[in-house]
Parts: sequence; structure tokens; C-alpha cells
Amino acid sequence: MKVAVIGTGYVGLTTGVCLAFVGHDVHCLDVDERKVEALRAGQIPIFEPNLLELMQEGLDRLHFTSKYEEAIPDSEIVFIAVGTPSLPDGQPDLKYLRSASESLGNHLSSPFTVVVNKSTVPIGSGNWVGALIRESQKVAGKNAPFAVASNPEFLREGSAIADSLYPDRIVIGADSGRALELLYTLYRPVIDQNFAAPAFCPRQEGFGAVALVSTDLASAELIKYAANAFLATKISFINEIGLLAGKVGADIQHVARGIGLDSRIGNRFLHAGLGWGGSCFAKDTAALSATAKEYGLGMGIVEAARHVNFSMRERVIDKLLESLKIIKGRNIAVLGLAFKPNTDDLRDAPAIDIIRRLRDRGVIVTAHDPIAMDRFRVEHPDLAGILSSTAEEAVADSDAVVLATEWSEYRELDWAALANTARQKNLLDARWILDSESMKKAGWNLMRIP
Ligand SMILES: NC(=O)c1ccc[n+]([C@@H]2O[C@H](COP(=O)([O-])OP(=O)(O)OC[C@H]3O[C@@H](n4cnc5c(N)ncnc54)[C@H](O)[C@@H]3O)[C@@H](O)[C@H]2O)c1
Repeated sequence: MKVAVIGTGYVGLTTGVCLAFVGHDVHCLDVDERKVEALRAGQIPIFEPNLLELMQEGLDRLHFTSKYEEAIPDSEIVFIAVGTPSLPDGQPDLKYLRSASESLGNHLSSPFTVVVNKSTVPIGSGNWVGALIRESQKVAGKNAPFAVASNPEFLREGSAIADSLYPDRIVIGADSGRALELLYTLYRPVIDQNFAAPAFCPRQEGFGAVALVSTDLASAELIKYAANAFLATKISFINEIGLLAGKVGADIQHVARGIGLDSRIGNRFLHAGLGWGGSCFAKDTAALSATAKEYGLGMGIVEAARHVNFSMRERVIDKLLESLKIIKGRNIAVLGLAFKPNTDDLRDAPAIDIIRRLRDRGVIVTAHDPIAMDRFRVEHPDLAGILSSTAEEAVADSDAVVLATEWSEYRELDWAALANTARQKNLLDARWILDSESMKKAGWNLMRIP
């Protein structure tokens, strides 16, 4: 099928590359000319394992452009995958969605086009996008038939390719049967799993047909928010139990295992520690609450999950104060900047929040990340001076180390040698990745949160 994807960020680029890989002809469109140039030159503007390799496999079916007139007219399916960041009141900022909808409306010309919201957008946005497209068609004197659908994205950065080729489920929502049929046809290779799996991202043994949830527009839109709110709540739940475990002398790791083995609960997203960050959970939980408010409802559980999550960042400061007593003027090393490993995404990264809180208290911070430092220099130029080129350099002469992102590189560090270079041996493993016995043997005063 002929497909256009508007927005070549983490979601749009992955979507375009995966659809081309399974046989579709895909135009990837972005208003950022530099991104388009880089993509045309065979470079990817983000760090995502396997993305470049998969892009190379589907290159003859992939086109990159910044022009709507090149991407839209022949496309049977147009995905919108632009950013929807939060406004200060928690509502998502829909300016990119508006602009994409208006621009694409001018150029629709297929006998029938399905316009698909892949961006995470508030309930009702499907109708709004439809209205914007009709309006811009009116202005341009056009009347090409189309329907709007929702196809929320559930990929995780760091494993986006596997999540897209072998998803738990695909959700499509539309109030037009024809739109649902076209989306079913588009996703058939993924649903039936009849494509040859790439060698660098193999299909797990026994992985079979993918469940398809075909529903109405509003339900598909709500599924995305409900899924993210549930996952965020699960993490905050174990952190809240972790706070109590610390008081009563229980081991939160054992508690998490003990409840996670219950198949009704499951052990994923049940890891105590620094909590969630990234571009989605904070934004989507805020948006869900804001939507509920419009209908006179409170989302008490979701609000509590947000509160617990953000309090974990202050908890890091409390723990450092407990052992250092005075942190003003101390050297503290932060290992890990990205909001999670295997990505360079720094949006709402807990590490950055912690670094700013520490600096506000007069701490001299050094920091390191195996992948995200280039992006950090661009997005946080005021903090660029705190970067060290190696983890060893960051830790040397520090009074405390905060391990903020669970990169496997940090598990492999020679912690015994590092203990000899630190000024004081305080180590806050905020992600619970280091073995407590060997850290103690190496001389570290190992702390954890909550
Ligand atoms: N990143 C994730 O892990 C993830 C997962 C699931 C869902 N989502 C949702 O997907 C959406 C996109 O997220 P992302 O992380 O890929 O964002 P992103 O910021 O990485 O990418 C958005 C891209 O859209 C481009 N863009 C903006 N306006 C445009 C326009 N009018 N025309 C063409 N291109 C335009 C930008 O230049 C940018 O390249 C968001 O709604 C997000 O909540 C993200």
C-alpha cells in the first residue's frame, strides 16, 4: 500500500521504517529539513537499536521529504506522528497536530484516504482532525474523501523495532468500516507474522498471530491513555510500598517478587527505584487528568501515581543529605542522563531534574552518559560544563555517586577501583542494578531508594 507518515521522530520514523520493511511504499515527511537531509544521507537522527539496519533493508520503498505535495496525494493511508508535548496546565499542546492536519488537508487526492492519529492525542481529537481537514479542503476548493482513524502507539524507546514488528496487540479505532478494513490490510503482515524476520531482530520462538483490537475512535484514544496511566501507576505503587518497606525493615525486592509472581499481577513494571520519566508517562497522565476534569471527574489514582513518582526525585536529595549531612559545596557524580537505557531521549529524564535540584543547593555536579551526552549538550547547553567523557572521570574525587539510569555499562564498571578514586564512598544506586554484597566489599556505602 502507499503510505505517508508525518513526523520522523521516535514514533514516526520507526513506523515508516517498519511498514517499508514489511512491503509498503512509504513517504516519511518532516518539517525539519535537517532531519530529512540526514535521513536521505542514510543517517538516523535518534539513537534506537536496530533502526538503521532495518531502514537499510527497506530503503528502496522508503522516501524522505519535507514537502506535503510529494508525500500526501497518492497515499491511501496517512499517519500523523507529530509531538504532543504538555502545556503548563497538563493539556497536550496540539499545535503540531493542527498544523499537520491543515497541511495534509490541502493535498489529499486519492479516491479515499485514511488519516490516522498515531500521536497520543486527547479523546475527541479524531473528530477535531477531521474538522480541520474539511476546513482546509474548503479553503483549497477540494473535496477528496477521507476518514479519520486512531492507531495508538505502544512502542518503547530502546526496543522500538521489536515492539513494532512483534507487538502485544494492535489497536485501531474508527467510525468508518472502510477505514478499519484498510488499516487491517496494512497491518496484515504484522498480524499474521508472515514476513521474514530480520536476522538482527529475530522473532521469539512460539510468537504467533498478533491480537487486533478493532474499535471506535474514542475507545482507541482512551486505550492509549489508560494503558500508560496503568503502567505509571504500577511503578508508583511499588515505590509507595517501598517507602513502607523501608520503615518496617522489609526488603522491597522480595516483596515485589512475592507479589509479581501472582499471574494476575505480573512482575513487569514492578521495580522500585527512581520512578518513571520520558516523553510519555508524565505528559499522558497529566492529559488524562485534564480531560477527566473537563467532564467533572477527578482521577485520584492517576494523580497519586504522579505525586509518588515525582517525590522519588526529592527522595534522592534526602538520601544524600542523610549520609553527607551537608551537600552544599560537595562533588556529586550523576551516572546516566537518558530517561532509560538504550535511548538518547532526555525528555523528563529524572537525572536532569536531580542535577538541577542538586545545583540549586550548591552542589558541584559531574555527569556522564554512554549515549545521550551529545543530545544533552544541545538540549541543556547551560549544563554542558558538567559532563565528563568517562564514568571514571565523573566519579573521581566525588563525595557521592548517584546511579540514575540503568545502562548495562554501569553494571560492568570496576567499582572496586572506582572506590579508590572517590573522595567519599557514598553510592546511591537509584535503579537497583548493583550487587549489594560486592559493592559493600568494594568499600561503598550503598544506598537505594525509596
Ligand atoms: N516516544 C515514544 O516512546 C512514544 C511512544 C508512544 C507514543 N508516542 C507519541 O507519539 C507522538 C510522537 O512522539 P515522538 O516521541 O515520536 O515525537 P518527536 O518529537 O520525536 O517527533 C515529532 C516529529 O514531528 C515533526 N513535526 C512537527 N510538526 C510537524 C508538521 N506539521 N509536519 C511534519 N512534521 C512535523 C518534528 O519535526 C519531529 O521530528 C507523541 O504524541 C507521543 O506522545 C511516543
